[in-house]
Amino acid sequence: MKKEYHIDKIFKSRWEKKILDWYSNNKRDLPWRRKENQNFYRVWISEIMLQQTQVSVVIPYYNRFMLKWPTLESFYNAKLEEILFLWQGMGYYKRAENLYRAKELLKTKKKITVNYKSLLEIPGIGDYTSSAISAILFDEKCSVVDGNIRRILTRVFNLNNNDNLYDKNIRSISDYLTPKRKNGNYCQSLMDIANSVCKVRNPECKKCPVEDFCLSKGIKLLLTKRKKTKNKIAIAFIINYKNYFLVEKSSKKLLKNLFCFPLSDSKDIDKNFIEDEFLDKTVNHWLKIKKLKVSYKLAGKVIHKFSHFQLKVLVVKLNLKSKFRLENFFWLTIKELDSRPVSKLFLKIKEKMK
Ligand code: ADE
Repeated sequence: MKKEYHIDKIFKSRWEKKILDWYSNNKRDLPWRRKENQNFYRVWISEIMLQQTQVSVVIPYYNRFMLKWPTLESFYNAKLEEILFLWQGMGYYKRAENLYRAKELLKTKKKITVNYKSLLEIPGIGDYTSSAISAILFDEKCSVVDGNIRRILTRVFNLNNNDNLYDKNIRSISDYLTPKRKNGNYCQSLMDIANSVCKVRNPECKKCPVEDFCLSKGIKLLLTKRKKTKNKIAIAFIINYKNYFLVEKSSKKLLKNLFCFPLSDSKDIDKNFIEDEFLDKTVNHWLKIKKLKVSYKLAGKVIHKFSHFQLKVLVVKLNLKSKFRLENFFWLTIKELDSRPVSKLFLKIKEKMK
């Protein structure tokens, strides 16, 4: 069904006032909002961190980042491994790699232009991040739409997220409502309302500044159809020679450039799946291609959630009598590993070493 939204000027000005007034009284005190952090570099880093990570998790990472690299110029010298080390535990490591690529590009520029259109050329900055940075720093009148703001507009205008025109409607409503002035406060207000009032589950409509405008008041819309999570399985190898452990600089998409114990390719778990068979087959195949003749021991199992699947890892221990060399693999002591970037999955597997 085609639906067009004609929102009149009176609605727009009342809406804008409610959102801005609410922000004056309720805004969160967040590190990247402080006066001393209102520059491109500091807002950029915060928005990249906030892309896929919750505010409460981001805060300590952001503070550590700013202590280590207080200015863009100081960040120019950062090594990829150092950025990943600081990022470890936050997930979505591609963001750290993009930051590295971005600052290598920025280094070559005489002048950095901060506006919606120019920022889109920087690795890791897409429509949302570019509009958020430009609005926050310069009140540029660009419409800022992330999943949270989308949720508010969906509820207020009672939109159907299965409608073919859903994205188009959200965009046109957001474009129209974006204020000429104070867009930075306006979009940050919507972010805070989404976080503390118009929550995914249990929205607190009584606290909402735009309750009077909301067409789905009191109705808890089920906005997300929960997808069944995919289950996968893989094997991790804890291989030691004396007090050295074999670790790999991962080339796997989700863990790229992080240090990890060697990990087999993963396999989807279906209803015919037999774990013992998979274990024996995969380990023996792996030993064969690495030309190793040793017996193995199952040391434990680990479950780790990635964004779109759950991975079960069978942790296997091998005790070697001699070292061997493999490209992209390193023999490191546990102490040496402490200063390398690793993922949360690695830390869980490491627990099984004991
Ligand atoms: N989420 C994304 N950007 C944000 C910001 N600047 N403040 C609070 N939450 C956010």
